Amino acid sequence: MEVVAHDVLIFGTGLAGLRAAVEIARKSKDTINIGLVSKVQIQRPHSVCAEGGTAAVMREEDGDNLDLHSWDTVKGADFLADQDVVDRFVETSPKEILQLDHWGMPWSRRPDGRIQQRPFGGHSFPRATMAADRTGFFEVQTLYDTLMQYQNFSRYDEFFATAILVENGAFCGLAGIFMPTGKFMMLRAKAMLIASGGLGTLYGFTTYSQTVSGDGQAIAYRAGLHLEDPEFLQFHPTGLVPSGILMTEACRGEGGYLRNSEGHRLMEKYAAKFMELAPRDIVSRSEMTEILEGRGFTGPGGLDYVHLDLTHLGAEKINHALPLIREVCMKFLALDPIFTPIPVRPVAHYSMGGIEADINGATAMRGVWAAGEVACHSLHGANRLGCNSTAECLVWGGIAGEAIVKFLRSDPPLQKLPADAIDAERERIFGLCERKGGEDPYAIKKELREAMDKSAGVFRDAAGMAEGLKHVQALKKRFAGVSVADQSGIYNTNLVNVLEIENLLDLAEALVTAALARQESRGAHSRRDFTIRDDDNWLKHTLVGYTREGPVLSYKPVTITHWKPVERKY
Ligand code: FUM
Repeated sequence: MEVVAHDVLIFGTGLAGLRAAVEIARKSKDTINIGLVSKVQIQRPHSVCAEGGTAAVMREEDGDNLDLHSWDTVKGADFLADQDVVDRFVETSPKEILQLDHWGMPWSRRPDGRIQQRPFGGHSFPRATMAADRTGFFEVQTLYDTLMQYQNFSRYDEFFATAILVENGAFCGLAGIFMPTGKFMMLRAKAMLIASGGLGTLYGFTTYSQTVSGDGQAIAYRAGLHLEDPEFLQFHPTGLVPSGILMTEACRGEGGYLRNSEGHRLMEKYAAKFMELAPRDIVSRSEMTEILEGRGFTGPGGLDYVHLDLTHLGAEKINHALPLIREVCMKFLALDPIFTPIPVRPVAHYSMGGIEADINGATAMRGVWAAGEVACHSLHGANRLGCNSTAECLVWGGIAGEAIVKFLRSDPPLQKLPADAIDAERERIFGLCERKGGEDPYAIKKELREAMDKSAGVFRDAAGMAEGLKHVQALKKRFAGVSVADQSGIYNTNLVNVLEIENLLDLAEALVTAALARQESRGAHSRRDFTIRDDDNWLKHTLVGYTREGPVLSYKPVTITHWKPVERKY
């Protein structure tokens, strides 16, 4: 078995991972040796799919301010965000925008040359800093180009991580399969940043790339770290029907309307002030209500929809600010949004929860940090505001990178690898290949995603979630009988898919268990049987711990520094 050692591993090379790598390289003057681990090629993380913008206060002279961004975020979060974390986030984000600008980011510009910003949902000021509607793509490219100025890193592209190895509560290494050779490999390091992104392929109708399968969350969970607030799964209001491709909120930020089948702007009834730019949880519920009450359009395979109408914006605006949206609609639906409304419905888009991490990105495991969507810093609470996510990746990539440099300067030891744990992991993986159970893993995945769509969607209730949980647990049992059809070594995507499904099953069980327990409606967790937010009993974060017998729940308080919870009105 090949074993390689580095000072630090960065597991995931999206926005958060690349930002951390750059921070570590520059703060250490390229003296820290970095191993960059990605399940895809380094420039193909899901972050490239981020479209609309990155939130930051850049216009204090025009009336925006840090307090307003904090307040919008806390209110948007339905008061489940930790307010000290939110304050640090809003203070740091503008610096990240300027830093990226200095590194060559091609931000869109206003006619006066200033960086352009546009309105986004739940923000009371236009603060989505943008590069047309390809913001994430250009941010990734800028960070990658910046990293290339340094030398002290090795790349492990197409490395599928399967386990975090721990000894006495401290990080030792990352086990996995190097797909180009099919070999089991061990990467050792004194520290690791987990920045491996979300878990959205848990759902059938989703904006996520098919590569996003919650691997970081799942292996951290099994290694003993808590998942925090997993029940809060964001449904973005505008997923293209039937593919689920993101129709950026910037469509509405640029002035687009949501119309029901009667031609009315449907948000008039639900959020008369913010209209289409209310927070995502509210807009998604409004759309679903219209659809369920018969004012939607009939879509394929039960994907009924409403219209995202850009036809009044004109060709010039669409071509300048939303060129990707136009291209996607034309390529996928042969529909030109300059002339024809776009069919959309709520779509699984983002996980507010993740690996529990503190305000510096540190986890409870010595030597391990987490940043980006994989982490829960208690920033987004029960509902994230649009364009706070790319900002979060930049902010906590930088913060965690700096913390890791400090940690490595204290000269921590390279922990010994626990030999029995390595053997057990190797046997677990290659044992899978030898099973002869005959269960089709892809059938299990399909059923899992259907069960999640049905039981843990925009609206939930006890009976539906209990049924969903039973189904997930039955699928876990069936998983014990899956066979890996492809027995070859090199690029065995079949084996990797099976391991991904195992990850998704554990995460689904954690999510639904936490959701069933939370007997209130808050943010994206909207229950038909407990319709009211219940601050007396539920103003607290969920923590989910892994055991072989199933998830164990505990709770911790929300940090409230200046804003007491009030009713959310938009
Ligand atoms: O709609 C969007 O462009 C998505 C942005 C986000 O999730 O922050």
